[in-house]
Amino acid sequence: MLVTGGAGYIGTHTMVELLAGGYDVVCLDNFSNSAPEAIKRVEKIAGKRVTTVIGDVRDREVMSRVFKRPIDGVIHFAALKAVGESVLRPVDYYENNVAGTLALLEAMLERKVQRLVFSSSATVYGVPEKLPLSEDAPIRPINPYGHTKAMVEQILRDWCAAGADHAGISLRYFNPIGAHESGLIGEDPHDIPNNLFPFITQVAIGKRDKLTIWGNDWPTPDGTGVRDYLHVMDLARGHVAALEHAVAHTGCSAINLGTGHGVSVLQMVAAFESATSKKIPYVFGPRRPGDIPACWADASLARNLLGWEVKRSMEQACADGWRWQQQNPNGYRS
Ligand code: NAD
Ligand code: WQD
Repeated sequence: MLVTGGAGYIGTHTMVELLAGGYDVVCLDNFSNSAPEAIKRVEKIAGKRVTTVIGDVRDREVMSRVFKRPIDGVIHFAALKAVGESVLRPVDYYENNVAGTLALLEAMLERKVQRLVFSSSATVYGVPEKLPLSEDAPIRPINPYGHTKAMVEQILRDWCAAGADHAGISLRYFNPIGAHESGLIGEDPHDIPNNLFPFITQVAIGKRDKLTIWGNDWPTPDGTGVRDYLHVMDLARGHVAALEHAVAHTGCSAINLGTGHGVSVLQMVAAFESATSKKIPYVFGPRRPGDIPACWADASLARNLLGWEVKRSMEQACADGWRWQQQNPNGYRS
């Protein structure tokens, strides 16, 4: 199994699940947002080796080298993923996320590799009209990053339509949080975290003095933003379920991976404090540009089609994420 971007946050956790499931794993990564140490940690957890190819999905020479190996499917994580950055650097995002996927598909076509699981995002929905969000909700991204994900989903639909044996699954992740229970792998943002959960763990470890909650006047029960947070290990397990589905069924589908429940920022802070006994000081700030009030998944398709649903609780994600942060105050650079 080829995992592009496997050294990243979700890729490392998914490789642990793949290795545990008996898959041989080839990881392609250019380490633009990760470190080789992450792969060593995966190998330590799994007690198995990962074949690592250092390179860029857009590099056709690298890709033809990768596909000289017996690859029977691909999980494609490699991408740029920061919404705010995508507004400032749209061309880099289209080049990396869309052109990168086209280069991957070309290499797959050459070697007749027929199965692809793609990292999409709930960001493709834009501002939800109705909640919970089901897969047939309108696709209306509102930032370049979300547009790259929606474009790749369309490319996959056309790729599947052009090949009777092609199987393409776009997994629309909601908000992954936490870490593997060993504390050896986790989320490792390289500068000030944009996302809520890693910011909270950095406040807890003392790297940040307080959390700023972006808006307490949203139309939500306690006025703070509501999201669907799922444990990254449940998300990883969802990829193995999607892969198994792609082995058994051709064609194209887009599937939400979420808990089906919304949690507010204040509820997340309370859950983290109760799970870790760490106080998280916070202040309220202005709404963050581009933010939406609330977003959570209708998770029934994943249950019905993949037999997947979350198993771990928010509190467990908080405890596991805190263990990673405590053991690795500076991430993999520790
Ligand atoms: P990440 O940045 O931790 O991992 C991405 C990995 O891909 C990194 O190791 C990076 O070095 C690598 N990479 C990037 N561009 C590459 C290229 N051109 N060639 C080779 N390697 C490349 O991100 P993540 O949080 O693990 O996300 C993985 C995927 O899931 C991304 O596609 C992201 O858009 C998507 N996603 C993430 C979230 C989230 O909240 N983390 C939510 C929804 C979707
Ligand atoms: C969650 C909530 C914030 C930080 C993003 C990307 C999305 C996907 C997941 C890639 C919101 C609030 C946050 C802080 C805060 N990534 N917050 N203070 O925005 O739902 O989704 O990550 O696909 O594409 O957009 O996640 O963690 O940034 O924010 O109050 O310091 O926490 O306003 O309500 P988001 P987030």
